[in-house]
Amino acid sequence: MNPYYTSKVILITGGAQGIGRGMAQAFAREGAQVILTDLDPEAGADALTWLDSQYLKAHFVACDVRQEPQVQALFQHVTEQYGKLDVLINNAGIASPARKPLHALPTEEFDQVLDVNLRGPFLCAKYALPLLEKAQYPAILNITSTRAFMSEPDTFGYSASKGGLEALTHSLAVSLGPQRIRVNAISPGWIETGLWQKEGYKTEPHHSTEDKAQHPVGRVGTPEDIAEAALFLCSDKAGFITGQSLTIDGGMTVKMIYHE
Ligand SMILES: NC(=O)c1ccc[n+]([C@@H]2O[C@H](COP(=O)([O-])OP(=O)(O)OC[C@H]3O[C@@H](n4cnc5c(N)ncnc54)[C@H](O)[C@@H]3O)[C@@H](O)[C@H]2O)c1
Repeated sequence: MNPYYTSKVILITGGAQGIGRGMAQAFAREGAQVILTDLDPEAGADALTWLDSQYLKAHFVACDVRQEPQVQALFQHVTEQYGKLDVLINNAGIASPARKPLHALPTEEFDQVLDVNLRGPFLCAKYALPLLEKAQYPAILNITSTRAFMSEPDTFGYSASKGGLEALTHSLAVSLGPQRIRVNAISPGWIETGLWQKEGYKTEPHHSTEDKAQHPVGRVGTPEDIAEAALFLCSDKAGFITGQSLTIDGGMTVKMIYHE
């Protein structure tokens, strides 16, 4: 337990699986009231059961971050049930539809990725604002990606959406500074989430020697790696940090690879 978090209400979008589930576990363990939201109610129920098995509590609210009325209703619910919000974590994101070359990529598929990864965080920040303004140490954390800064071929929507979310981070930080709301990003590299999915969708991690060697730290990341940094960035200990993006990738993006 962390006394700082025992009085705090934290909302995590896309919190039912993967990195979001890892952050929910970490904030609940530190004593925060955690509100998990997700598109997938089955995954939400599964996440609550999984947390309960560790004697941790959270509250689930179904919400599709693309849908403005649902986002509005979500924060109305938070207002009525909790009367406050200290931290918003914009984590929900998708990488699919699948990669396609530019000429074969339907424009709607490009839009679909931007709708979740960029419009979603914008809508959540917008409707969380009246609650965050009233908090003592309010914070927003956006989960971006190292793909905001580098790309594999044919990942147009994902890279563009994450680059946009990096920019939205500093734009929000500057705009909401007068309301004392700090806004930062975590830019994860390769994070293995196979064991953090709902029942029936879990996969055992399998990483080759090359996969591990691509990382200076010698391994692929875990949701805990992201959660530990989120705990710090959303706390008063990070009170002088805003508008920043912390890359957490085991060093993958600073490693040069030459094939000779
Ligand atoms: N895993 C990685 O290697 C990695 C790397 C860099 C960035 N990220 C980012 O981290 C975040 C979490 O990724 P993850 O790997 O844990 O993904 P995940 O697929 O394991 O979990 C994402 C969760 O978001 C939910 N979701 C999807 N669309 C939604 C919507 N419209 N509204 C609400 N919820 C929705 C899903 O149901 C799911 O539970 C994403 O933003 C992703 O882009 C992940």
